Amino acid sequence: MKIVVHIDEAEQWQAALSEALPQATVLTSEAPAEERQHADYLAIWKAPAHLLKEQTQLKGIINLGAGVDYLLKTPGLPSDVPIVKLRDAGMGELMADYTLYGVLHFYRSMDRYVDQQQSATWQPHEVVEKHQWPVGVLGLGAIGAFVASALQQAGFPVLGWSRSPKQISGVRCFHGDEGLTELLGQVQSLVTILPDTAATHHIVNAEKLSQLPKGASVINPGRGSLIDEKALLEALGSGEQPGHIRGALLDVFHEEPLPKNNPLWQHPRVIVTPHMAAPTPLYDAIDQVISYVHAFESGDKLSTVNPDAGY
Ligand code: GLV
Repeated sequence: MKIVVHIDEAEQWQAALSEALPQATVLTSEAPAEERQHADYLAIWKAPAHLLKEQTQLKGIINLGAGVDYLLKTPGLPSDVPIVKLRDAGMGELMADYTLYGVLHFYRSMDRYVDQQQSATWQPHEVVEKHQWPVGVLGLGAIGAFVASALQQAGFPVLGWSRSPKQISGVRCFHGDEGLTELLGQVQSLVTILPDTAATHHIVNAEKLSQLPKGASVINPGRGSLIDEKALLEALGSGEQPGHIRGALLDVFHEEPLPKNNPLWQHPRVIVTPHMAAPTPLYDAIDQVISYVHAFESGDKLSTVNPDAGY
């Protein structure tokens, strides 16, 4: 069995997989072309098109991340090879930490204190009770559901939204277009963890931002395409003239790295982080990759990616 790995620091993955699957030949995509061809499995993250195009006998593609948007757009992706992706694999906890940080940033007025420090202003702000700070989570897949539960356990009322109905203990779940409007009207912080698909493109647009209560904050560790960046900038207002939205913590963007001249970098109420909310954790992910390979080899039914749905 041959497995070819493509991801940053692929040698670490190669070593861990070789150890766990001694019967397999595990190569990185840096191996000479004639060696890396005829692989049984590709375990990849943001792989170049040629790596997909040159394969002749793939049994499965393992996406080494939660989002498959990049993979599905890669030219040469065979249509007849099943794709599996990492599900949670330790990323839920990382995303929950990032999101909780963002919610607390606004809930405990850290944005105001950072601003006040510029003028050495000593001015405490009221701390409302957590039950007065409902948080909305758009996207209730493996990671979104984990994040929603973590926020609920931290004491915030959580409203979750997905396209189709879901149930999560302790979370008020909404679905469909009407459910989205209902959720938006009630939340102080909005968290977006949906996959990048045609259906989620700019799901948070000017109209949706205006449906949030005045002073709400936006936290996006999901995908840049979920938010209409121009509409968000308008809703944020300027330094002197604050708008409808109080602030934003953004990890993902339409274009990454975020171009230096993008106004989000300069906005006083926006925190930009460089797509670091949930880097794929090696050891949790390796366990899942190994279980996928075993399942493929023994013909077990796997929950595969639906390319038409985009996740
Ligand atoms: C990261 O962006 C992922 O999709 O895992």
